[in-house]
Amino acid sequence: MTTTNADTSETRQMQDDAFALRNYGREMARFKAKNTGAEVVIRYPRWEDLKQFHAYLNQVHQESLEEPMWFSTRPHDLPQTSRRLAENLKKVEVAGHPFLFVEVEGQIVGQGWVWIGGPNFGADIGYLGLELTKATRGMGIGTKLFEILEAESKNAGAVMIELTMASANRACQLYERLGYKEVGRIPHAVMSNYGKEKWDDRADLVYMIKYL
Ligand SMILES: CC(C)(COP(=O)(O)OP(=O)(O)OC[C@H]1O[C@@H](n2cnc3c(N)ncnc32)[C@H](O)[C@@H]1OP(=O)(O)O)[C@@H](O)C(=O)NCCC(=O)NCCS
Repeated sequence: MTTTNADTSETRQMQDDAFALRNYGREMARFKAKNTGAEVVIRYPRWEDLKQFHAYLNQVHQESLEEPMWFSTRPHDLPQTSRRLAENLKKVEVAGHPFLFVEVEGQIVGQGWVWIGGPNFGADIGYLGLELTKATRGMGIGTKLFEILEAESKNAGAVMIELTMASANRACQLYERLGYKEVGRIPHAVMSNYGKEKWDDRADLVYMIKYL
């Protein structure tokens, strides 16, 4: 079979497009939330999410001032959010890492990610993180997000997932229910109240892992 130059460049273009956009905005789940029946969508990000992502990050930060959330969160200006979204899109599209948004009734209310590899990890180990706004917790969304993040990590070649949490976080029950096991802890390593707690009152930093 003979291939003309035009065919070759067209084929290459199609392959490039398919590669670059393989996950862009891809919907991974759509379901009704437990208790409220609100419409939940879990999907990969797209650039058009910028404004909502920005509002979401600042909402989570605001909530963390009212009730410490056991992880660090800071306010963002729009250029910072756009850099962060751009980095995350690159991680998804170029490096193949799972990074997902949660929408409830069309609004971004959460994010979840697994960074596979990274400076301290093997290329087949992922580091998982996730967070939801206060009003959307306890509706089964986190459980579904875990399921998708784990499946996507496995597809990307990960064999183990690691996460860290504060010993005082009630999310511990959820992680154990999902098969994560504690493998170690650093005593008094978490400042949940912006450093105002006494040393003895600080939570431990707990390391948990799960083999996929
Ligand atoms: C942890 C988190 C992502 C779980 O998602 P979720 O949608 O609330 O979880 P589900 O509804 O699927 O499962 C409920 C379980 O989540 C855990 N959970 C943790 N914080 C919770 C909260 N504020 N409200 C409800 N459930 C919470 C509990 O283990 C709960 O199980 P239980 O009802 O038996 O106590 C979410 O609650 C959250 O964003 N919490 C604050 C941020 C955080 O702690 N992130 C993790 C840092 S390691």
